[in-house]
Amino acid sequence: MLQKIIRVVEEAGEMIRGVHDVSENITEKSSHIDVVTQYDTAVQAFLYRELLQLMPEAGFLGEEGEHGEIATEWTFIVDPIDGTANFVRDFGHSNISVALARNGVSEYGVVYNPYRGELFAAQRGKGATLNGKPIHVSDSDPSHGILLCGSTAYDRELTDRHFAIMRTLYDRVGDFRRLGAAALDLCYIAAGRVEVFFECRLRPWDIAAGSLILTEAGGKVTQMDGTPLDVLHNCSVFAANAACHSLIGDIQEFLA
Ligand code: IPD
Ligand code: CA
Ligand code: CA
Repeated sequence: MLQKIIRVVEEAGEMIRGVHDVSENITEKSSHIDVVTQYDTAVQAFLYRELLQLMPEAGFLGEEGEHGEIATEWTFIVDPIDGTANFVRDFGHSNISVALARNGVSEYGVVYNPYRGELFAAQRGKGATLNGKPIHVSDSDPSHGILLCGSTAYDRELTDRHFAIMRTLYDRVGDFRRLGAAALDLCYIAAGRVEVFFECRLRPWDIAAGSLILTEAGGKVTQMDGTPLDVLHNCSVFAANAACHSLIGDIQEFLA
């Protein structure tokens, strides 16, 4: 199943890899900063068709369109383009993210950045890979670590909380980056490139694949209060290598 999902996701990557100017095709969703392009819609339609052929009885939870409660045992959880704001700006840092979850637990995860030709994949219990080679989180401690974050730009009521947490964590780490594609943020910890990531609210398709890839690479990911992730609903995310996840203790005061 993992190889079959990979083949579909690679094909979807071809639909966006050569695209550099989408200025004509941008529509606003929840706000002027939350946009969708014809490519988001087309990639999701392609993934819907191809993935459900692999498992016709599965449900489908994709970012674009309606989101009902999931009642099926197996569910494909799909972000057709994660990092759309990067995509419309030709940053070359976006991905296609596909998970296959069973009863709300990700069993397969694939995250593909077609611009770098980097495909992260995992099956529960079988480890994580980048382009077929095993990957593992770094063993850096917080002071040598790089912190990534998402700024909850679509949920502005969380802005003060975000920056209060940022201010506190910045003193504990070496430096920070904000890269703009949550699924890749999780995979970059998995590959040992960076150490910590948080965002005060993410959606199932942002985290369902990347969180499995990270845990299979030896990392730890929870909600910001330390409770388990919920890949079927919106939730906060705190992710890190094994040596840095304890930083979560320093941010609890901001969650009230
Ligand atoms: C967004 C990106 C971004 C994160 C947002 C997500 P989208 O996904 O992952 O990094 O900060 O919270 O919604 O809208 O580009 O698919
Ligand atoms: Ca996303
Ligand atoms: Ca998206």
